[in-house]
Amino acid sequence: MAKEKTVYQCQACGFESPKWLGKCPDCGQWNTLVEEHLAPKRFSRATAHPEPLSSIPHEVGGRLSTKIAELDRVLGGGIVRGSAVLVGGDPGIGKSTLLLQAAAKFDLPVLYVSAEESPEQIKMRAERLGIRSEKIGVLSETLLENIIAEAKRSRPELLIIDSIQTIYTDEMNSAPGSVGQVRDCAARLVQFAKQNGVSVFIVGHVTKEGMIAGPRVLEHIVDTVFYFEGQKGHSFRILRTVKNRFGSTNEIGVFEMTDAGLSEVENPSELFLAERPVNVSGSVVAASIEGTRPLLVEIQALVSTSTFSVPRRASLGMDLQRVNLILAVLEKVSGLHLAGMDVFLNIVGGLRIDEPAIDLAVAAAVVSSLRNRPISPQAFLFGEIGLSGEIRAVSHADARLKEAAKIGLKEAVIPALNREKLKAINGLAITGAKDINQALDALGI
Ligand code: TYD
Ligand code: MG
Repeated sequence: MAKEKTVYQCQACGFESPKWLGKCPDCGQWNTLVEEHLAPKRFSRATAHPEPLSSIPHEVGGRLSTKIAELDRVLGGGIVRGSAVLVGGDPGIGKSTLLLQAAAKFDLPVLYVSAEESPEQIKMRAERLGIRSEKIGVLSETLLENIIAEAKRSRPELLIIDSIQTIYTDEMNSAPGSVGQVRDCAARLVQFAKQNGVSVFIVGHVTKEGMIAGPRVLEHIVDTVFYFEGQKGHSFRILRTVKNRFGSTNEIGVFEMTDAGLSEVENPSELFLAERPVNVSGSVVAASIEGTRPLLVEIQALVSTSTFSVPRRASLGMDLQRVNLILAVLEKVSGLHLAGMDVFLNIVGGLRIDEPAIDLAVAAAVVSSLRNRPISPQAFLFGEIGLSGEIRAVSHADARLKEAAKIGLKEAVIPALNREKLKAINGLAITGAKDINQALDALGI
């Protein structure tokens, strides 16, 4: 096939060059030149007339269940036919494992394109996972044109591309994994999916900068974006939606990596609290919400005298800026002396939570550690902390409380405004706190 003319275009200023350059001579930025088609193809149709909104059918292809409940949950109830899903994550986190398991459970024709591993390697993984499906075709191919030709021939329901960084189109000169290649290949796969009603899962490795395929170039091309997260040394894996045209975002699916692949975790709260120490200072339960799902987690703080002139502040699983803000409020409003103290915070289990509703639990863990006073193991908290120490109401208070009651916790300290609006919940003693000091009093620390 004749190569199409391509050009290298600066993504910052639009400067064009026939060759790749490290620095744009026009605007002076580095690494902004990306290979593009010279003349973008234009698809003109003879007629382009609008349809009345009311006559457009609901959902084009309907949904197909993956038969993995945690995966269906993040998809918004199954894969939408003809949709494209990007699964991003660090190398080795379990993306190939997840998709192979999904392919096996799916029980409809699947074409698994592996551009990274040989069919033998995939077979070895399948044996380990106990998969013997007749319906999975494995194709070891890196050229996009061949992949699409094969998919057109064998007509699978589901096409899996593992991974987008290792396939390439011969219409471009740049190497596989470069922005131009990744973007062009993904766009053509999405187009194929839409035109043929085939659902496509695209694996994308998160690069060093923490973005999929460099500058997040794929997120706007596909319908749904998942990140598969987890921490080294922890077996929990969280599948998180960051974009979903067909469902809610921020939904999470929880898995555990075992010797025989990923297993679904149906009750993550129980699991995350399983190893909680009792009557130890610095540990407290926070009731958080991920998507629509309540999740109880243990927050641990360690406050100790610093040996440095500038004390250390470190947090795992939460935003350090937010932590610094909470520490500043504690100093000002509660009179804590943290100036010469190192403060370490951790969300147990390798989870990452960005919700301000965990503020109150973070503050309580810090105070508990500093004063060396344990918090009752039956207690839990939620609430956002404002800059003057007030506790602000949060959403889904009811769901958080019910989840805690379900696993047997008994004492809640929550925002006063949430408390006012609540009906009683069986077995729970609920205290509403207006500010941080009221909350600390209620906990007895
Ligand atoms: P993999 O799916 O290859 O990761 P990715 O495609 O995201 O790069 O998973 C790799 C890791 O998972 C590897 O370190 C081994 C581990 N693993 C298990 O612990 N149990 C299993 O059953 C499988 C298949 C893998
Ligand atoms: Mg892989």
